[in-house]
Amino acid sequence: MKKSRILGVGHYVPERTVTNDELSQLMNTSNEWIIERTGIESRNWFTPGVDTVTNMSKKASEMALERAGVKAEEIDFIVFATISPDYFMPGNGVLLQHELGMGTIGALDVRNACSGFLYALSVADQFIKTGMYKKILVVGAEIQSSALDKSDEGRSSSVIFADGAGAAILGAVETDQPGILSTHLHAQGKYVEELYCKDPGSSREVRISQELVESGSFFLKMNGNMVFKHAVVRFMEVIQEALDTNRYDKSEIDLLVTHQANLRISQYIQKQLNLPDKKVFNNIMNKGNTTAATIPIALSEAWEQGKIKDGDLICLAAFGAGFTWASALLRW
Ligand code: COA
Repeated sequence: MKKSRILGVGHYVPERTVTNDELSQLMNTSNEWIIERTGIESRNWFTPGVDTVTNMSKKASEMALERAGVKAEEIDFIVFATISPDYFMPGNGVLLQHELGMGTIGALDVRNACSGFLYALSVADQFIKTGMYKKILVVGAEIQSSALDKSDEGRSSSVIFADGAGAAILGAVETDQPGILSTHLHAQGKYVEELYCKDPGSSREVRISQELVESGSFFLKMNGNMVFKHAVVRFMEVIQEALDTNRYDKSEIDLLVTHQANLRISQYIQKQLNLPDKKVFNNIMNKGNTTAATIPIALSEAWEQGKIKDGDLICLAAFGAGFTWASALLRW
């Protein structure tokens, strides 16, 4: 048996920064409301014709490869988490594999929204533990801003979601080495319509029509209040599950990196776990919620800022559309 360890992390966000004041010109909102209710001051949105999910993930992957000291040709497999692939089909893993010149290695897409990166990490972890692969590129990348209704009607989600890419290189190590201790995955499809993008769905005669476009069913729809209420409960459950499985106490966590959905959610979790500020990493203030890209971007930034050191106990947790939620506990 082997264990998997994160050997390097990288990220990329589009150059265009969108401030709350800029959003106030598009919809009835304000800098004060957005900061008070979400903690977000600015976010990055893609520029059409410049940024793609593929080229952003390529930049993030190259950074992760360099930091890991791993060459592209050493990678055995790609797991790509996104709900916003460049093409409706196939997924984005194959596009990245081609861009990085990774021969004919397998490329798998994971569509689990905000929990996508942790689902992807868990899949990669299993492949490494069974000995099937030695080095896996795990990616989370999204362009969400093109799915947003930037009118008053869509304002509760338009102010939150953003674009970007993050990547991690997972490598096989001996079981007595630091690495991923456990991953925990959950879902509850009952709540699918509380946060979803209905079209272009396949179960209709014509996937795209003028009528459908005008109905607004291509936009991301979110019942923010409902999502918030479930998120705070599930985050706590899944973090506790990871701690219990490995017989750790919450006080032993060196750094908690949660999916960045709303600063108030992160602050609630921090308070429940009684963790000091230095043990919690937040970047929602200037990154917004980049769905599957959030956790790898946050990990990469935390590492850059010297907030993650070898041997640290890191807890990752996410909640989002599906509903799906997940956690991972690891020794860096
Ligand atoms: N600007 C100004 N007012 C807004 C607004 C905006 N961008 N968005 C919503 N409002 C208004 C609402 O219309 C409502 O007005 P009303 O009282 O006149 O009806 C009021 O603000 C309160 O709305 P509510 O939805 O209760 O606000 P909230 O405090 O729950 O904040 C979210 C809304 C979306 C920020 C919050 O619910 C949230 O973050 N939810 C979880 C999001 C999440 O985790 N999503 C993704 C998981 S990946």
